[in-house]
Amino acid sequence: MPAIRIVEVGPRDGLQNEKGWVPTEAKIAFVDQLSASGLVEIEVSSFVAPGWIPQLEDAEAVFAGIIRRSGIRYTALVPNQRGLARAMASQPDGISVFTAASETFARKNINASIAESIERFQPVVHESTVPVRGYISTAFHCPFEGPIAPAAVLRVALALLALGCAELSLGDTIGKATPAEVETLLRALAPHCPVDRLALHLHDTFGNAVPNALMGAAHGITVFDGSTGGLGGCPYAPGAPGNVATEALVAAFPGQTGVDPSRLTLAAHAIGPYLGRGAAVDSTQRSSP
Ligand code: HMG
Ligand code: MG
Repeated sequence: MPAIRIVEVGPRDGLQNEKGWVPTEAKIAFVDQLSASGLVEIEVSSFVAPGWIPQLEDAEAVFAGIIRRSGIRYTALVPNQRGLARAMASQPDGISVFTAASETFARKNINASIAESIERFQPVVHESTVPVRGYISTAFHCPFEGPIAPAAVLRVALALLALGCAELSLGDTIGKATPAEVETLLRALAPHCPVDRLALHLHDTFGNAVPNALMGAAHGITVFDGSTGGLGGCPYAPGAPGNVATEALVAAFPGQTGVDPSRLTLAAHAIGPYLGRGAAVDSTQRSSP
């Protein structure tokens, strides 16, 4: 396992935010290209309600079509028991449940309060036969409620750990966090949550994602979510553009990720023609500190 583990979320977080339909074959080719890059974990799709995220309604077909390489974990988002049943049939290597530290965002994204979401996840985590990751969105700022107190994140983190989540991913959903805020949150969580079970999921609205990742690493974080080409965003989070580019993370942690950036470029070029913006951007430029 590389010293820094990148969880590639482009096929899920990136493609969920596309306005147009990306053909299933293009999604499969994207994942297959990513599989050749040295990545050890790829979030392939979401088993969410198609009425909420029609872009990923072909999750089963994408899982059925990809070529799985040994040593790579292929994972998916699951919002409820219905999603779990769908996911299990596709045999992912891990699943992720997702809630938020802000009540308003939780309601808008998953139509539940935070407490209801935790209750909903209980059978999902217990019945899952693969490790479960827990996402905490709006861990720093909420598009509706503004800055989020670390204590609110801690409450959700403890609830997800108590449920049995193996790893927690702290989401800067709208990319507004600063390195100082990353430090404050990690210091607040440190006495209660083992740092080796935490990951950072940084969107890159203001170019802070790489400095935030470096601050995370300084506090012991070794798992970072990235999206090849800097794709990404949540349709239910206004003002949430792309994730930090995987390419930028690879550059920020030289020799520590095991990922070949030239293979990421091939993957970005493969998916580029299918994206609304015409081509995947070279986000190494945009994400530089
Ligand atoms: P709801 O409308 O309250 O649920 O949605 P429901 O139980 O009333 O279901 C509505 C319909 O969907 C029903 O169908 C269900 O059967 C169906 P109908 O009776 O109308 O024909 N349904 C499903 N179908 C397939 N698979 C399922 C499923 N569940 C229900 N799993 C729900 C509640 C949670 C389902 C919905 O709100 C949802 O799917 N939300 C997902 C939204 C989403 O995917 N957002 C983006 C991902 S999160 C993110 O991007 C943030 C992250 O990147 C971190 C960060 O950046 O911070 C992770
Ligand atoms: Mg995200």
